[in-house]
Amino acid sequence: MTNAADAYSNLLSPGRIGPLTLPNRVLMAPMDMNLCEDGEIEETEIAHFVARAAGGTGMISTGASAVAFPLGTTSRKEPGLSDDRFLPGLTALADAIHAAGAKFNVQLVHHGKISRIDTMDGRPMLVPSVPKPPSDMSALTEMATEEMQKMGAIRPTNAPSFKEADADDIAWLIRTFAEAAARVVKAGADSVEIHCAHNYILGGFLSRFTNQRTDEYGGSLENRARLAVEVIKAVVAEVGDTTAVLVRMAGEEYGEYDGLTIEESVQAAKMFEAAGAHAIHVSGTSLNSLGADFTKGPLPNTVGFYADNTAAIKAAVNIPVIAVGRMLPELAEKMIAEGRADFVAMGRQLLAEPDLVIKIKAGHRARVRPCINCYVCVAENFWDATPKCAVNPALGNETLVPFGRTDTPKRVLVIGAGPAGLEAARVATERGHQVVVIDKADRLGGTLWFSSLTTPDNQRLLQWLTDEVKRLGIVVRLKTEATVESVRALNPDVVVVATGAKRPLPDVPGGDLPHVHTGDSMRALLTGTGDTSRESLPLRVMGKLGKLSRITTSPERLRWFTARFQKFLPMTRNVVVIGGSLVGLELANFMAERNSKVTLLGDVEPFGLPMAMPRRWTEVKHARELGISLHRSAEVQRITADEVEFVEDGETRTVPADMVIVATGTSSDTSLADQLTAAGFEVQVAGDAGSVDYIEGAMHTAWPVALGL
Ligand SMILES: Cc1cc2nc3c(=O)[nH]c(=O)nc-3n(C[C@H](O)[C@H](O)[C@H](O)COP(=O)(O)O)c2cc1C
Ligand code: SF4
Repeated sequence: MTNAADAYSNLLSPGRIGPLTLPNRVLMAPMDMNLCEDGEIEETEIAHFVARAAGGTGMISTGASAVAFPLGTTSRKEPGLSDDRFLPGLTALADAIHAAGAKFNVQLVHHGKISRIDTMDGRPMLVPSVPKPPSDMSALTEMATEEMQKMGAIRPTNAPSFKEADADDIAWLIRTFAEAAARVVKAGADSVEIHCAHNYILGGFLSRFTNQRTDEYGGSLENRARLAVEVIKAVVAEVGDTTAVLVRMAGEEYGEYDGLTIEESVQAAKMFEAAGAHAIHVSGTSLNSLGADFTKGPLPNTVGFYADNTAAIKAAVNIPVIAVGRMLPELAEKMIAEGRADFVAMGRQLLAEPDLVIKIKAGHRARVRPCINCYVCVAENFWDATPKCAVNPALGNETLVPFGRTDTPKRVLVIGAGPAGLEAARVATERGHQVVVIDKADRLGGTLWFSSLTTPDNQRLLQWLTDEVKRLGIVVRLKTEATVESVRALNPDVVVVATGAKRPLPDVPGGDLPHVHTGDSMRALLTGTGDTSRESLPLRVMGKLGKLSRITTSPERLRWFTARFQKFLPMTRNVVVIGGSLVGLELANFMAERNSKVTLLGDVEPFGLPMAMPRRWTEVKHARELGISLHRSAEVQRITADEVEFVEDGETRTVPADMVIVATGTSSDTSLADQLTAAGFEVQVAGDAGSVDYIEGAMHTAWPVALGL
């Protein structure tokens, strides 16, 4: 057990922001949940925030809340702050958060150029300057029809129009922010955060890229910061001495050359401090999120992506600075210890694990359910829906936890130690059932182990599940094949079949050649386990050597080894990946990063499904940067010893191939479940065995199964 006091002493120590003392340095980052009814906060949203407050978070923040609701609003489901009719919901939320032991912040926003509701209601959107059209919209080609439809369903029928803010609008904005701040203070909030980032109206004024004005609110940095400064002064004057006033700003704008630089942000932060702000919260803005830069700002892909910008601002001001952007507890502790930040805001990590703070405080860091950076949550915001979390099915449905203990404990046999099986085993055990897990492989994880190879963040989930299995004392029998007889011998009351999908070889001439691999045979090859009988002798020997040298026992080691010793590997030659889905795209990138010449033959549009869109956009962009030859709708005709022949746009083409990886044709597989049902067992199915939906599907199907036992 880690000694929490030592390991996270800075992170867990109380800290001051203006007039407030927070119990620790962890803030919940503002995240819109889209749970309001016409701007009014409802019970479900309160339960969501209270879960994070009760989990020890020092201060809870609402997501973007509209100061002029419905004006300057992206969604009628975001909290409104412009009328006293919003007070009951806000007050109930403030009271509930306080009762759970946290402070309460409300983020104040006018959404400027993305104020969808203004367009819907036939109003122009208020902006500093009429926006320039995006220079890169390549991400749109990577959208599925269903996603387009969902976005289309919320798109206004009116054509968007813009109004450049004049003197009256500016005066109105300043007044509106101040009045909204006064209202949330009346509701019991401890703090307000003025949103001056992400290209909403104040961030739009601050940005050199989006502000083209020639009056005293445009041009020089001082002019561009003027509106934010005036808003800060008005808010500080309005809320009095007992409320903290935070400012969220971008340390940097990404995606276009003339965006805000860190040097400018440092100067702007000093102006905000002089205007009376009590803290600066350093985020990042993408100026061209449809050019696949969304994973730089506002939701970075990389741990601590804004850390240097945060430290630069911290060095220049005398008020607390809040770091955000995949702030894992260790990095958060280090940044505070080194004086590079005073507080950290955690977003997705608190969606994945509401109890993060109390767990690390109790010395149980390993029990913190990790965010795997999959972007499933935020993708929902693109069509005005409520975020869901791939690894935490209780998000938005907080009443699911803590799990109720069962009155009728059962002997549960889980077949398959992939994410669905392990999660079902974990939840069932927590509920008081007696669980045994069996798997024919020699290790835990199933496809999660394999995907950890190409997607290191998935390894965090594998580690967490593995640790939980140990902690709960769940009996695991590896290298154990499930048959009707072996199951009967274990005498379970219920069987949970979580054996995963089937991945057949392609039904084309040459589809069964030894250099043609499915996910299963790739796993067998790379890990040296499972059926390697189809492999050539050198590959079998290599797999065996890998296993003996223990390189293949962890995804980390294997990643390291394959990256450094490419020339010994089959994947250093011409590789053709058939199937452009999530697995195909991730494998193609993995191979290309190891210097293989990769061709990706897509069979569906877009590439990367069902990876959530912002991450998918970035992965496809990465594939292009790696020089992967991308074919969107290739129909494979045959595979020979050294080529793959396919038809694209009516033309027959060939591509050299020393290795072919088949990432298509994956389908659910209930054959074992059917056999066991026929043999008289009570059977439940979880994960890909029932419906192929990777990690999110695995975790989300495991819960109802385990909760229903
Ligand atoms: C579902 C979701 C909704 C978000 N909504 C907002 C928002 O309303 N206002 C805002 O400033 N940032 C918003 N963000 C960005 C977060 O506040 C945070 O800066 C970002 O997620 C990076 O932190 P993280 O890596 O800890 O998630 C949102 C993020 C997520 C995941
Ligand atoms: S959905 Fe994915 S990115 Fe979002 S919080 Fe959950 S694990 Fe993290």
